[in-house]
Amino acid sequence: MTTAQGAQQGRAQFGVAGMGVMGQSLALNVADHGFRVAVWDRHPERFDEMRQKGAPDSLKGYAALEEFVAALERPRRIMLMVTAGAAVDSMMERLEPLLQPGDIVLDCGNSWFQDTRKREAEWKQKGLLFLGVGVSGGEEGARYGPSIMPGGPAEAYAQVRPVLEAIAAKSEAGVCVTHVGPDGAGHFVKMVHNGIEYADMQLLAETYDLLRHGLGLSADQLADLFSQWNQGIAESFLLETTIKVLRKKDAETGKPLVDLVLDKAGQKGTGKWTVQVSLDLGVPVPSIAGALDARNLSSMKDERVAASRVLHGPKGESLSADEKANLAAWVHDALYAARVVTYAQGMRLIQAASNEYKWNVSLAEMARIWRAGCIIRAKLLTPLREAFEKKPDLPNLMLADSLAPVLEKMAPSWRRTMAVATRLGIPVPVFSASLAYFDSYRSPELPQNLTQAQRDAFGAHTYQRRDRPEAGFVHSDWS
Ligand code: 6PG
Repeated sequence: MTTAQGAQQGRAQFGVAGMGVMGQSLALNVADHGFRVAVWDRHPERFDEMRQKGAPDSLKGYAALEEFVAALERPRRIMLMVTAGAAVDSMMERLEPLLQPGDIVLDCGNSWFQDTRKREAEWKQKGLLFLGVGVSGGEEGARYGPSIMPGGPAEAYAQVRPVLEAIAAKSEAGVCVTHVGPDGAGHFVKMVHNGIEYADMQLLAETYDLLRHGLGLSADQLADLFSQWNQGIAESFLLETTIKVLRKKDAETGKPLVDLVLDKAGQKGTGKWTVQVSLDLGVPVPSIAGALDARNLSSMKDERVAASRVLHGPKGESLSADEKANLAAWVHDALYAARVVTYAQGMRLIQAASNEYKWNVSLAEMARIWRAGCIIRAKLLTPLREAFEKKPDLPNLMLADSLAPVLEKMAPSWRRTMAVATRLGIPVPVFSASLAYFDSYRSPELPQNLTQAQRDAFGAHTYQRRDRPEAGFVHSDWS
């Protein structure tokens, strides 16, 4: 053994900085897989918490950053588990003088991908390696197997790969981690994952609302129905979570707890970023935007309560016997179809960013690593992966050989669902935005000839003629 090898021996193989709930869970997960782990936190009492959670002796806590860094074998591999934004910059500033060329830092928060691109480029100049890593799955996922989306230098990924593969979730399609691409690719994909999460959650909320108000189903009846759905093609983690939520009773009142939850949705920003980026890249994501607006509108509670006294919904509407008998089945299909459309938009956005930033992201791989561990994991991800494996340059998921016929078959139920919602005055922003996306995308003719004519009429913005494409952009006097 060389002296250098001797010095490395016994040192921690992996470091985790920031022992909040997620940091603790990930550090314990790494330790469970036989790696010697060093953890850092300003609050040493958190190390005691971790002992109580069963941290092995191979996991050691440090309250001094210098000692934590010195305890790690080289190249150092340090996972940052701090809140996205200024805290990441501050940790990087503190770590930088303590690190040596070739050391690797993994930012595992929900960071803005442009920050990640900048940070990675700056550290590269200094000989340090920076990975922007999306991690999904909440506390449970972090502890027992998240879906991991790392972006950054390939050589850095190669160094952390054994650890990430050990701790990631596993599905029938393999381990739920892959090198997403360079610089900000991993954080971008995680952001879109969250955008899809917003839309998927909103679709489930709309489903609940339609069946609750349309059919008068109770929380328990809904949970029973959703449990049946969850045995079939609609199976997903978010549906399973919905069932769990609907079954929970409030200990004090005995009522379904969900009925006692105030209808004002919060958010931390990743859904908003998804929509902002989609506007910059010119990629429509109306289902995700609809979900974001739905959260924003929900938070205007006082205004809505006041408005409900002035603006009234339809009166005297009721469902026909046919609608009563079939609504649940129609909504099931509408939900599936709208989810396909949501994923189609998210995938398209990733494809556009991958082209723009030359990331070379494999959409099939993204579907594969989302199959387990993450919040949007669902049975649907299997046909989705297969579609992109078969045709990596598929322009839109809705065109996949395996999904297009399903959408065609489900569209009538989807339309009936929308008709019922409209008649009853139940807002279904994501169901309807998704259907409009589907209908627009499948239309060879859209009314934007009128838009172009208007633009030319009031602002001489010019237009192209269908009958004379060779004439290029022309202007007419519309008066
Ligand atoms: C995950 C989640 C996680 C979190 C998001 C969304 O993949 O584990 O997406 O990152 O739930 O931050 O949170 P908001 O709904 O508060 O925006």
